[in-house]
Amino acid sequence: MIELRKISKTYNGKDKIIDNLNLIINEGEIIALIGESGCGKTTTMKMINLLEKPSSGEILINGINIINSNITELRRNIGYVIQKVGLFPHMTVGENIELVPKLKKWNKEKRKEKSYELLKLVDLDPEIFYNRYPQELSGGQQQRIGIARSLAADPKIILMDEPFSALDPLTREMLQDELLKIQSELQKTIIFVTHDMDEAIKIADKIAVMKDGKILQFDRPEQILKNPKNEYIEFFIGKERLWKTPEMVLAKDIMQKKFAKINKEGSVAKAIEIMKEKSVETLFVVEKIREGSQKILGVITPKNLKSYDNFFSNDKSNKVKEYMSEKYISVDENSNMLDVLNIMSAKNFRNIVVLNSLEEVVGLITPTSMLNIISEISPSKDKEVNEIE
Ligand SMILES: Nc1ncnc2c1ncn2[C@@H]1O[C@H](COP(=O)(O)OP(=O)(O)OP(=O)(O)O)[C@@H](O)[C@H]1O
Ligand SMILES: [Mg+2]
Repeated sequence: MIELRKISKTYNGKDKIIDNLNLIINEGEIIALIGESGCGKTTTMKMINLLEKPSSGEILINGINIINSNITELRRNIGYVIQKVGLFPHMTVGENIELVPKLKKWNKEKRKEKSYELLKLVDLDPEIFYNRYPQELSGGQQQRIGIARSLAADPKIILMDEPFSALDPLTREMLQDELLKIQSELQKTIIFVTHDMDEAIKIADKIAVMKDGKILQFDRPEQILKNPKNEYIEFFIGKERLWKTPEMVLAKDIMQKKFAKINKEGSVAKAIEIMKEKSVETLFVVEKIREGSQKILGVITPKNLKSYDNFFSNDKSNKVKEYMSEKYISVDENSNMLDVLNIMSAKNFRNIVVLNSLEEVVGLITPTSMLNIISEISPSKDKEVNEIE
């Protein structure tokens, strides 16, 4: 287990780059540190192998404060994949992978055996790649070597700083899958820095969202998606990824703001004209309170107009308010989707008027708006499957 306790970091006594940060990472977990550029991800990660020293606070690994430990020994026991691949260009793939085993004085045979095993693990043929130089590899292959190298001395902890960020999306996905496969075999404790929320969601057991040197939220991906702690996290996750449950979707999110309506002083002829023009059967009768504010009075449907026998005239004297029905249902804009569904089915109404706290009309919910939102709230992965189908 790794524990960061009240860690702060300043450079030259200036602003706090890391500000009183607490983090507990359990053995065998993959943790993603995510946040905007400059928020302190790399710094946080580097403090775990003391490439950066905290200005204050403690870092415990298995209960032991590492601050005063033997740094060389510590680093050899923590794998590190740096932000840019960082293979040594003048060394072969094999030599790169065997760097730490060599420092640990493993004999040549054992080192080569390990290299071969790791190359196979990252899906590269050792016979082809062992003696190559980094510049003879593609970006994705270099990144695989970077991972192999971090695993070489069998460290329990691996730090990975944006290991896949320079890769094209396809290679990136392949390497993410590879990492998950490796992790299911080796169960390392991995701290993984990324800019990419999709990547974090895919690979991490828990995600720490960072901003200005602080962790704003640290939780399982689905919890962060379901319950982002504040607006910044919501923004960072992106609306399209938010995992909405029906309780989280409100009438005001579903409603359409534009719908067919007519002022109570309008004529029946005008009402019929609007119905025809907009191809609707329901017209809401409203009264203007002030600019941009309307109250609902009733509803007009062809049924209400049965008694109107002058269908084809332009008679302006018949007002809609004399024909309208007052039977309509409304919900408050903050009612959730479940309430709306219940009302729709209990009262057997197709259209529901949405009112704000001043009882002004703000929108309309129709069966189509419900269908749209139902397709939206299914998790994005399901959406992909549907698209493929
Ligand atoms: N040696 C240093 N001296 C002074 N400031 C530094 C030093 N190293 C990093 N910083 C500052 O600390 C802040 C955090 O840097 P860090 O590298 O941890 O960010 P990051 O979240 O990893 O960003 P990125 O996503 O761009 O890699 C930045 O504002 C950076 O300028
Ligand atoms: Mg960084």
